[in-house]
Amino acid sequence: MGRSESQMDITDSSTPRPKKQRWTPLEISLSVLVLLLTIIAVTMIALYATYDGKLFPPLSARLIQNMDATAEPCTDFFKYACGGWLKRNVIPETSSRYSNFDILRDELEVVLKDVLQEPKTEDIVAVQKAKTLYRSCINETAIDSRDGKPLLSLLPDIYDWPVATENWEQTYGISWTAEKSIAQLNSKYGKKVILNFFVGTDDKNSMNHIIHIDQPRLGLPSRDYYDCTGVYEEACTAYVDFMISVARLIRKERGLPIDENQLSLEMKIVMALEKEIANATTKAEDRNDPMLLYNKMTLAQIQNNFSLEIDGKPFRWSNFTNEIMSTVNINIPNEEDVVVYAPEYLTKLKLILTKYSARDLQNLMSWRFIMDLVSSLSRTYKESRNAFRKALYGTTSETATWRRCANYVNGNMENAVGRLYVEAAFAGESKHVVEDLIAQIREVFIQTLDDLTWMDAETKKKAEEKALAIKERIGYPDDIISNDNKLNNEYLELNYKEDEYFENIIQNLQFSQNKQLKKLREKVDKDEYVYSFLRCSFRKGRLISFADLRVSTVANIVLSAAKDRAAKAGECRVPASKEGRRMGACGLCYNQL
Ligand SMILES: *[C@@H]1O[C@H](CO)[C@@H](O)[C@H](O)[C@H]1NC(C)=O
Ligand SMILES: *[C@@H]1O[C@H](CO)[C@@H](O)[C@H](O)[C@H]1NC(C)=O
Ligand SMILES: *[C@@H]1O[C@H](CO)[C@@H](O)[C@H](O)[C@H]1NC(C)=O
Ligand SMILES: *[C@@H]1O[C@H](CO)[C@@H](O)[C@H](O)[C@H]1NC(C)=O
Repeated sequence: MGRSESQMDITDSSTPRPKKQRWTPLEISLSVLVLLLTIIAVTMIALYATYDGKLFPPLSARLIQNMDATAEPCTDFFKYACGGWLKRNVIPETSSRYSNFDILRDELEVVLKDVLQEPKTEDIVAVQKAKTLYRSCINETAIDSRDGKPLLSLLPDIYDWPVATENWEQTYGISWTAEKSIAQLNSKYGKKVILNFFVGTDDKNSMNHIIHIDQPRLGLPSRDYYDCTGVYEEACTAYVDFMISVARLIRKERGLPIDENQLSLEMKIVMALEKEIANATTKAEDRNDPMLLYNKMTLAQIQNNFSLEIDGKPFRWSNFTNEIMSTVNINIPNEEDVVVYAPEYLTKLKLILTKYSARDLQNLMSWRFIMDLVSSLSRTYKESRNAFRKALYGTTSETATWRRCANYVNGNMENAVGRLYVEAAFAGESKHVVEDLIAQIREVFIQTLDDLTWMDAETKKKAEEKALAIKERIGYPDDIISNDNKLNNEYLELNYKEDEYFENIIQNLQFSQNKQLKKLREKVDKDEYVYSFLRCSFRKGRLISFADLRVSTVANIVLSAAKDRAAKAGECRVPASKEGRRMGACGLCYNQL
């Protein structure tokens, strides 16, 4: 949610090549419950997408075929869950990942495209907005005709990109502060560079939100890449070349002289800086235990314990925090509690930052933001990514525009798209049909439980009880159909223009970051309907949440069973990923952060 599609594109869309064989125990031991869930979830998705009344039995059969029941789930879960599938399928050339889920998702996207491209006079405002956003995204003529202009007019708002301007020190350097620069990328666009500041649920009090400070994500897919030797060498070279070519394009469009040596020199410094930052981050495998990561302290203590020095000046944590939170009119006193997830990183960062100038830091920060946005510009800019994508993913082929756009709109306006979708898929009396199907799914779910030898009787019984207790909520919030005002209000602040795709993206980034920051003083909404494509979160080796497109109710049964089960120590534990969330077997789960 709330990320530009370019971010998805660059960081998530395929498994990076050097890591192709990455089914480590981390991934493979994903709880078998997830598979069960998938049987349900995928069925539901298919059912919503292409319901023809006869889909259910063959589909679950297809999923069961994909399993390899001879494998032992606790030692090789991936084989257990996907062994059958691997034997029968080849991964298509254009994609480094393909699964049953992908096939079904393809079908779903076709439905989304159909409903989004067709304007209707009776559309409510929220739905019209979704359609405008979609049209702005697919109109490549309009996007190409603007070249890099929308980006160029945005850059002055973020202290610009020093390498692509003249006299940066005089123009921007004078008023530059690290606090403001890092804060505005975060608060305006949700882009977290150097420091990751976010508002999230408190791990130790799940009713409350709290500020978190963590290590940032990197421009390359993981810290290992910054080793830049062996399999990573090509990616590093391509990354620096990517920076240079974008800097060159911007300078050209601005009519500035191009000094190749200067571009290369500056971008190599950016790389060196990011390399040091990568090295200071803690490895994903050492971040498995959130309780060890959890260091609650006051803002004043952070200032004491983690004094940074940037551009020869002490970094004022309170000023930084308030620069961010003032965008949602929240004042943060020095006594505010903050959870620091990465104390070691912050300690190491101090030594790194003293070595670099404001210009170097700004070169890195702007780059990381620009990198996400080039794919939303004209073809010339898009193509600057080709060699980099090739080095990372082994392919330069892009997802079809309509598909990318349907997903983008769905990801940003879930409820509005959900309404269109429900209207298309649940016309007339079909709600009854769906109710029948849920009953069937429940039955099969319980039957499947019986066949599982590895699950203890007690857990099975719990799962069964929960299955029986499901309320037919039909998997979507009724409000999105029945409450036009609520839906319209949700998107009240958003006003898209059909010929301004780039600005629309920026609006979305701003809107969702704003919404997230505002939560600090709100209670956690337990009823919030979280849904997008399959999404798993793990913490301390446990599946802690699972959501997918309109099946939250069903998903919750499995989730609760998984939690109960994980409470019994030692069995099938799934180590958490860097962000506590991880992509699961067979592409079932999507990395969310
Ligand atoms: C695409 O945008 C151009 C320029 O804004 C406009 O003239 C054209 O009608 C649009 N095409 C479609 C299919 O909407
Ligand atoms: C990585 O960090 C360690 C200390 O944390 C340091 O000893 C080492 O020199 C660093 N390596 C690089 C390449 O910066
Ligand atoms: C912060 O500093 C205090 C006193 O210097 C120390 O006792 C405490 O352990 C430090 N906390 C962290 C998380 O570094
Ligand atoms: C942060 O400090 C700058 C001066 O360096 C000041 O202009 C600004 O108002 C401060 N921001 C906040 C939110 O206190």
